[in-house]
Amino acid sequence: MVTARQLTGVTGMALAAALLIFTQPVTYASTFAQSATADKQAPAAAPNPTFTKDVLPILQRSCQNCHRPGTPAPMALLNYQDARPWARAIKQKVTSREMPPWHIDRSIGEYLEDPSLSDREVALIAAWVDSGAPEGRAADAPPARVFPPATEWTYGQPDLIVRMAKGFKIPANGPDFIPEEVVDPGITEDRYVKWVQIIPDAHRAVHHSHVYVDLPEGTDTAGLGLGMGSNVGNSMDLIEYGAGNDADIFPDGTTKVLKKGALFRFEAHYHPYGEETFDRQRVGIKFYPKGVVPKLAVTSHRIRTGVGNDWVLNRERIEDLLLRAGHKLSIDEPSMPTGALVAENPLHAAALLSIPPNSVVQHERFWPLPKAALIVSFQPHMHFRGSKMMLEAIHPDGRREMLTSATHYEQNWQITYKFKTPHLFPAGTILHTVSIHDNTANNKHNPDPTAWVGWGSRTMDEMGHGWTDVAFLSDAQYQEELAKRKAQRKTTTDVRQ
Ligand code: HEC
Repeated sequence: MVTARQLTGVTGMALAAALLIFTQPVTYASTFAQSATADKQAPAAAPNPTFTKDVLPILQRSCQNCHRPGTPAPMALLNYQDARPWARAIKQKVTSREMPPWHIDRSIGEYLEDPSLSDREVALIAAWVDSGAPEGRAADAPPARVFPPATEWTYGQPDLIVRMAKGFKIPANGPDFIPEEVVDPGITEDRYVKWVQIIPDAHRAVHHSHVYVDLPEGTDTAGLGLGMGSNVGNSMDLIEYGAGNDADIFPDGTTKVLKKGALFRFEAHYHPYGEETFDRQRVGIKFYPKGVVPKLAVTSHRIRTGVGNDWVLNRERIEDLLLRAGHKLSIDEPSMPTGALVAENPLHAAALLSIPPNSVVQHERFWPLPKAALIVSFQPHMHFRGSKMMLEAIHPDGRREMLTSATHYEQNWQITYKFKTPHLFPAGTILHTVSIHDNTANNKHNPDPTAWVGWGSRTMDEMGHGWTDVAFLSDAQYQEELAKRKAQRKTTTDVRQ
């Protein structure tokens, strides 16, 4: 049982909600259960579906963005000639819901750029394949969708392109490595980002990549949302690149702020894949027009799941883990002792995240919001053993609201789920992430179910990051946004708080 003393530092309202959690144990098996989707009862697919009339519109909306020449996808799906040889594979991938990559329970929440297929569309593709994948009449085909070249920018032409000056050679073979290169983007006045995208040259060798913004000494960081959550120090995340995730566009009125004199720090995680390559990544930025100052600064927070990440709640478990490994530790320490936090130390790794052999384990993290906030997006990040991750909000009155439930996480995809309407929460709302790691032989990606796995940055180590983009609000901004939403709710039913 968690005592109030152990929860010091958590706000009063948050405390009440946190205690509620512990008095009402919840099983996440049910949390993660796939709920019935609204379109389960939809009528069966149209009879005699054809490619031009029924299938092509779906491919245009949900597949061609990736399946066209010059992208990492293995084949184009632009027309009948492209698609026909892949008909069986297409049926298999869409019925198993491996394609398009979208790994969440579709019945929870609404998202921007959602490519996922309805049950009716899946049935339609299956019926088309089963009836011999006929082409149909040319006159039925919608006009071809036009795409910019794959190496170019998703949302148009950026105002600023910053490229690694030296870049990195990735050898054909060898261990993963995570080098850094700092580049001066030449920002002479504060600018506000509307969208940002990162394009590597060596897609196949990039496991993932970050661009951080290092702020000059003495920068006034008021209003940037720094110093909270995982954003401490004088550095902020600008963008992360991973398969299925290379661009962020900020809803009007929200932005990432680039302060005058800021430096860009590229940090790429490379994974040699058998061929020597060279990478000089570019980051492209579109600014709000000069003179437009968006009100809300977005910051990216890693809501890490793990044992040692919630010292306040888990100190007994951590003490147990460390003592058993012969590490002296006092449970009365106000925070995790630094002695246990030597980077890349196996004790540290196990104390942060502990995944025993042949087991399925759950870790979680509670983060009481220090200020009112808009929650813009959620991106689960784990490695080979990752199987599920969810983000929920625990309201100050104890009510729990599931925001996103990644029920079939796939470690080779890093997808950012952008909320159609950002969630609005008052200070003290607890963001709760739960991760499930499957370290059994049932997990087809598991390289070794007999290994004990802990926290670490190598691909074979584990992580549990709930990357969450947050825009903090002042009390006045919160009240204003709340009033706006209440007014809208009177006229429409689909606006959620
Ligand atoms: C976000 C990008 C993306 C989207 C959207 C996407 N795909 Fe894919 N697809 C890929 C990539 C990359 C691969 C290869 C890696 C893999 O299989 O995960 C792939 C693999 C496939 C394969 C397997 C090919 C093989 O080699 O066996 C099929 C079939 C497929 N996709 C069909 C589709 C269909 C149909 C859609 C739309 C309903 C779709 N994909 C949407 C990126 C995408």
